[in-house]
Amino acid sequence: MLPILTLLSLIPSLVFAVPCVQFDTNWDLYAFGGNEDVKLGNSSSWSQPSVTPLSTSGRPPWTGQYTQCLQSQYNNAMYVLGADDSDLSKIYIYNFAEDSWSLQDTSAEPSNLGMSRSASVLDHDTNVIFTLTSGSGASLYQLDLSTIQATAGSSQAWSAVENPSFSTSGYTPVAAEASNHIHYFGVPDTAAGSADLFVVHYAYFQPTPQSYPTLNGGEAFPDSGGQAINVPNEANNAPDQMVFFPNDFSNSYVVTHWTNPGSYNSTSGVPFATDLINTTQILPAPSSQDQQASYAASPTDLVQIDTAGNIYYMTNAISSSYTVQSGASWTKMSYQLVGSGGSGGNTTSSSSSTSMTGGSSSTTGTSGSSETSAGASGSKTSGAASSGTSKSSSSTSGAAGVSASLGRWDLAGVVMTFAAVGGVILL
Ligand SMILES: *[C@@H]1O[C@H](CO)[C@@H](O)[C@H](O)[C@H]1NC(C)=O
Ligand SMILES: *[C@@H]1O[C@H](CO)[C@@H](O)[C@H](O)[C@H]1NC(C)=O
Ligand SMILES: *[C@@H]1O[C@H](CO)[C@@H](O)[C@H](O)[C@H]1NC(C)=O
Ligand SMILES: *[C@@H]1O[C@H](CO)[C@@H](O)[C@H](O)[C@H]1NC(C)=O
Repeated sequence: MLPILTLLSLIPSLVFAVPCVQFDTNWDLYAFGGNEDVKLGNSSSWSQPSVTPLSTSGRPPWTGQYTQCLQSQYNNAMYVLGADDSDLSKIYIYNFAEDSWSLQDTSAEPSNLGMSRSASVLDHDTNVIFTLTSGSGASLYQLDLSTIQATAGSSQAWSAVENPSFSTSGYTPVAAEASNHIHYFGVPDTAAGSADLFVVHYAYFQPTPQSYPTLNGGEAFPDSGGQAINVPNEANNAPDQMVFFPNDFSNSYVVTHWTNPGSYNSTSGVPFATDLINTTQILPAPSSQDQQASYAASPTDLVQIDTAGNIYYMTNAISSSYTVQSGASWTKMSYQLVGSGGSGGNTTSSSSSTSMTGGSSSTTGTSGSSETSAGASGSKTSGAASSGTSKSSSSTSGAAGVSASLGRWDLAGVVMTFAAVGGVILL
C-alpha cells in the first residue's frame, strides 16, 4: 500500500497548465506558460526563431486549465484570463512594449467563469470582455476594461448582460468576434455551417443562427465544440474574420462576417469582395490534433501551440483581400515551449514508453467516466479530453489515450487507477 499512499500524497501538488501564443501589434509572436515566457520574433524568423525570455516579475502562475490570452490591439497588450487556477477572477495584463506584467482584480465574477479556452472575447472597439458561462441556463457576462489599458488599474466588476437566444444545456462555449458580432460555434442543434450571434453594438442575441456557406462547394464547418479566434485587422479596425478549429480537426475554417453598422442589409463600405460576406473558406487542419491547444492569428498568419508546448505555424494563410491562400500549410517550429505548461495532454499519442502501462487502459476509462471523482486539478481536463477524443475518433481508444510521457495528468490517471484497484482490494 505504501506506493499508493505515496502517489496519493502527490495529488495536492498536481498542476495542469496550458500554454498559449499571442502576437503584439508589430506581429511579433510570443509563447506563454512554460518554464518561461518567450518572444519568438516575426514570421520571417520562425524557421530559425531567436528566442528571447520575457520578464518573470509578476507573471501569472500559469496553473489554469482553460487559460485564454486575448490581444488588446489598441493597447498593444494581452489580457490573460484563467491563468491562476486558485482565483479565476484575476486577469494578468502583459504590456508588450514594456515587457511587464500587472495584475487586474475583478469582482462579481460569474460562478462558472472560464470553463473553456474559447469562452471569452475582447471586443476590439470598446475593450469590453464578453464571456458566456457554461452549462444549463448560462448567461452572457461582460467586464468593461475601457478604462484599463496596457497596465492594470482599479478593480472592475463583471455584470450580467442577458441570456442567450439558444439553449446552453450541454454547450461548452466557443466564441469569436467579427464585425462587432460575437459568434457562438457548435451550439447544440444548430445547422452545420451556421453560428449563433450576439450583436455587441445593439446588445442583443439574434433570434436565429446566421449561415456561412463554404465557398466553392466546400464542406460546412461541423456543429461541434472546438476553439475559435479572431483574425486581427492590419489597420487596427474591428476584425472581420474568425478561424474555427472544430474538435474533429476536419479543416481550419475561416469565417468572414461583415455587417454595415448603420443598416444590416446594406453592403456599402465592405472592405473586401461582397461575395465573401458571410462565407466560410477552408485551410488545412492543424497538425497537432490536441483539442485543448490554443491559437493566435496575425492578419496573415496562424499559429497553434498544443498542450505539450509544440508550436506550429501557417504563414501567408490569409491574403490582404481576405481570401485564403490555396497552398498554405502548417510547419512545426524547431522551438518547443517546455515546462509547467508542457506536462502532457497528448490525447492522440499512440506510443507508450512508460513502465506503468498496466494502468493505461483503465486510466482512459476511469478519467473519461468519473470527471468529478477526484479533486486534483488535472482530472477534469483529462476526462474531458479523453471523452471528447473518443467521441470523434475511434483511433484514440484504450492505450492510445495515454501520453507517451508520464505527464502530470497521466499521473493523476494512474493515481485514480491505483485508487480504483485499492477499492477493489478492500471489497
Ligand atoms: C521582422 O523582424 C526582423 C528582425 O527584427 C526585422 O528586420 C524585419 O523588418 C521584421 N519584418 C517585418 C515585416 O516587420
Ligand atoms: C450577414 O450576416 C448578418 C448577421 O446575421 C446579417 O445581419 C447581414 O444581413 C448578412 N449580410 C449579408 C450580405 O447576407
Ligand atoms: C433593408 O431592409 C428594409 C426592410 O426590409 C428595406 O425597407 C430597405 O429598403 C432595405 N435596404 C436596403 C439597402 O436594401
Ligand atoms: C502526439 O503524438 C503524436 C503521435 O505520436 C504526434 O504526432 C503528435 O505530434 C503529438 N502531439 C503532442 C501534443 O505532443
